[in-house]
Amino acid sequence: MAPLNSDFKLPSASRRSFLSLSAAASAALALRIVTEPMLARARVHNFPKDAIRIDANENPLGPCAAAREAATAIVPQGGRYSDWLTDDLVKTLAEMEGLKLEQVRVYAGSSEPLHHTVAAFSSRQRSYVTADPGYEAGMITANALGAKVVKVPLTKTYAHDVKAMLTAAPDAGVFYVCSPNNPTGTLTSHSDIEYLVENKPKGSVVLVDEAYIHFCDAPSVMDLVRAGKDVILLRTFSKIYGMAGLRCGAVFGRPDLLEKIENYGGWNFMPITAMVAASASSKDAQLVPERRRINATVRGEVFAWLDRNGYSYIPSEANFFMLDTKRPAKPAIDAMAKQNVFIGRIWPVMPTYSRVTIGTAPEMDQFQAAFQKVMTGAVTASVGAMPSAGELGKRKRSLEGGVIRA
Ligand SMILES: Cc1ncc(COP(=O)(O)O)c(C=O)c1O
Repeated sequence: MAPLNSDFKLPSASRRSFLSLSAAASAALALRIVTEPMLARARVHNFPKDAIRIDANENPLGPCAAAREAATAIVPQGGRYSDWLTDDLVKTLAEMEGLKLEQVRVYAGSSEPLHHTVAAFSSRQRSYVTADPGYEAGMITANALGAKVVKVPLTKTYAHDVKAMLTAAPDAGVFYVCSPNNPTGTLTSHSDIEYLVENKPKGSVVLVDEAYIHFCDAPSVMDLVRAGKDVILLRTFSKIYGMAGLRCGAVFGRPDLLEKIENYGGWNFMPITAMVAASASSKDAQLVPERRRINATVRGEVFAWLDRNGYSYIPSEANFFMLDTKRPAKPAIDAMAKQNVFIGRIWPVMPTYSRVTIGTAPEMDQFQAAFQKVMTGAVTASVGAMPSAGELGKRKRSLEGGVIRA
């Protein structure tokens, strides 16, 4: 499609979305994008006052000081479109990651590009392959589009079993790898992801979700994007940057792959508050190391307390972990909520576990006090007798159909 006159030049974000709308895309646009709060808060919408909210992997620190100042300062200019601020953030991210501008897009969170990648590369003919337990959003999109969802158990060390993923789905369109993995907080090595990329079926992509990468020392697979591989990489400002409500995320990949994603929802320019806050956060060199240290310290203290008290959990590299309640987790979650401490949901394959987000140190003290009461029976939810181990095993198997219980 030619521009209206030859001198007229749309800013890059608007131009690309304007040109790439298609009939195929408009069908997929109708699908609701599933996000973490929808999964985490299927039951709770209005939290009581002073609630300890450690159920949705949010960052209690919120946006950094520079981000708050930048967002506040730009509000008076909210009557202007200022679409170049979107391009400014793309430029900042491209420079930081050693990529070309065409390899970066920003969105209102990473949920949108996740959803659109699944829509673009999986179909009734090409399945969606994910870990079990894994982050459910892409699986729900694939299901809604009629693509087969192939769930592959994590290894004994809770890494993605890339060889089993390859064997399980020779017809795959998308291999989704989340590292650190939501909900286990465990890593899949760079070499394993590389193996997956090198051995996957032709025409498929590896969708690597690095929503939580900044909380650990593990290497990113951004080098695979730089090398032009069939990799689409997601990052978000919702986690370490504490901007879940301000909404900003990014997708990185080869331009031809990103164009396919754009067909499922054009790339619009973004709210200026989120743009300036994300740019300011990205330029704050202290933010990531400082918040990684804070999270690791609080997480280490919680793990030490759990160890001292003989409770089980999966050691995690992220800002959340899986806590074993040693019973169907639902009554334990309810008994915690009774004490105003809201912990996270259950994954069907691990029915005795609940995912717990790392809050502030005082919040985790309250978590510990409440959990102690639940485990000693001082506070209970209204439940029947504790089921036997055999009954638990049966429930686990019957839940493996992929139903989400929040
Ligand atoms: C693994 C993973 N990916 C992506 C997202 C999407 O987050 P957002 O849309 O806030 O960027 C989340 C949110 O919790 C997540 O856990």
